[in-house]
Amino acid sequence: MYRSHSCGELRIADIKKEVTLAGWVQKTRDKGFMIWVDLRDRYGITQLIFDEERTPAAVVEKAKTLGREFVIQVKGEVIERESKNKNIPTGEIEILVTELTILNESIIPPFTIEDETDGGEDIRMKYRYLDIRRNPVKNSLMFRHQVAMQVRNYLSNEGFVEVETPYLIKSTPEGARDFVVPSRMNEGQFYALPQSPQTFKQLLMVGGMDKYFQIVKCFRDEDLRADRQPEFTQIDCEMAFVEQEDILGIFEGLTRHLISEIKDQKIGDFPRMTYDEAMKTYGNDKPDIRFGMKFGELNHVTQHKDFKVFNDAELVVGIAIPDAASYTRKEIDKLIDWVKRPQVGALGMVYVKCNEDGTYKSSVDKFYDQDDLAKWAAETGAKAGDLICVLSGQTNKVRAQLSALRMELAERMGLRNPEEFAPLWVVDFPLLEWDEETERYHAMHHPFTSPKPEDIPLLDSKPGDVRANAYDLVLNGNEIGGGSIRIHDKKTQALMFDHLGFTPEEAKEQFGFLMDAFQYGAPPHGGIAFGFDRLVAILGGQETIRDYIAFPKNNSGRDVMIDAPANIDDQQLKELNIKLDLQ
Ligand code: AMO
Repeated sequence: MYRSHSCGELRIADIKKEVTLAGWVQKTRDKGFMIWVDLRDRYGITQLIFDEERTPAAVVEKAKTLGREFVIQVKGEVIERESKNKNIPTGEIEILVTELTILNESIIPPFTIEDETDGGEDIRMKYRYLDIRRNPVKNSLMFRHQVAMQVRNYLSNEGFVEVETPYLIKSTPEGARDFVVPSRMNEGQFYALPQSPQTFKQLLMVGGMDKYFQIVKCFRDEDLRADRQPEFTQIDCEMAFVEQEDILGIFEGLTRHLISEIKDQKIGDFPRMTYDEAMKTYGNDKPDIRFGMKFGELNHVTQHKDFKVFNDAELVVGIAIPDAASYTRKEIDKLIDWVKRPQVGALGMVYVKCNEDGTYKSSVDKFYDQDDLAKWAAETGAKAGDLICVLSGQTNKVRAQLSALRMELAERMGLRNPEEFAPLWVVDFPLLEWDEETERYHAMHHPFTSPKPEDIPLLDSKPGDVRANAYDLVLNGNEIGGGSIRIHDKKTQALMFDHLGFTPEEAKEQFGFLMDAFQYGAPPHGGIAFGFDRLVAILGGQETIRDYIAFPKNNSGRDVMIDAPANIDDQQLKELNIKLDLQ
């Protein structure tokens, strides 16, 4: 038996017990006649004491050789500490050691294995196994496990069955590039790793599984950000014989269950907003509704004067920043510089100070009088003491710019409280999205999403106006889930492929298996997938998903610990019949 107790377990009630502990040496303090060692494992830290008077001399000698991160096993007696440490649960006791076995030595770790480490991100990722020994990382992984357990409990109780779907498949279009895997046995051919199990879960519905879920890895070759990894995990779900309302109900329940079980917070009915409304009021399809600063569109109260910038703009839109009328010229200039940064891209910003005495002072006083500015204040909901910031230009761009400003200000003003949870359903997404680069329409969600039946006639005349039976779950300004009611008949699916620019041959080659399946009595069905890493991170109060992934990739998609991706040897290339032509 390596240990009788863990390093987080022993208390004052255990005094006089003979125990065996095993773990890592966190730190040693050698006072000559006495040596203290902090012994650490997953469960905590227990102090060991080697005392010249009470510990065998040979054991004391061995203790002197211990270094940080040595793995040891000790036997000894639990005694009461003279100076107690109130900060740790085991702080009232220590182990008077009588036997010491060094199970393994350690070279000096490249950073300190403590909550506040001296190791930067790069070095911690290279030695991630050491990073995992630190509480913040270890706790995040344990937190992730806890969330996964709750997800499984909830969905199993609701009658969902977890079914595994394959990883070596054919392209599933979710809007990113595929990672591909060459097939040795099928020369010149490639598998694609799933961007999601989308088509398989639909086939499971054709197969009569009725309620499916899977906590599953997905792979997408796309540019990385704090909330994106090339391989990430989804809580993927699909249900047969359902309408949108059924799905929203079950998954609102799941989210509520998680927030209640994990955060001990009760949340009422989730608000809903259409995509159009979200774009208009927050400039964004994933609005953070923990705070206000809603958009006020100002075209009708700005475009009748001689201010050319506004007259020429497709959209003039503003927000009221609470209590910011007192900003100095310098502070406002800084805000203007911020919106003009290339990452935001505004050309400039007009502002109005709403003075406490009810008057207004704006940067465009030459063009607008007090009555005009009062209308701006009414549209943006500004009160005395607020600062109105106004941007103008092409609708989509301006909305994105003002949304970025809104989020930045909320961050600076401490309005994004990570312990507050504000979920929101965004519904009625457009079915299609115009892509400037390829100059054609793309499926906004994916090609299997059904259009709203009443909008189908618009497919030919105004494709951009067709709404989909698609929905996203937004939590604190993050898209944590998305799904749709699917097309379940071959005819509509063919119509959809046609509008997405697939020839019938291309559609058959890529998705013939699904179209075939639809001919054998496919039930009406729909589903959703949550980004599991994102959900865990947000519940944990963070927005960086890397912290909740045991072995994440860096921003260039590299695993710096195992050094992947890497070259493969010539023999492997030969077997795969791949010739590299690198310049
Ligand atoms: P979607 O593409 O919206 O839908 O993905 C679902 C959720 O997965 C998360 N997500 C990611 N998380 C981390 N890194 C990434 N690279 C990444 N990409 C997406 C997001 C997102 O909301 N098959 C459909 C679902 C369906 O229709 O049922 C799908 O995959 O939180």
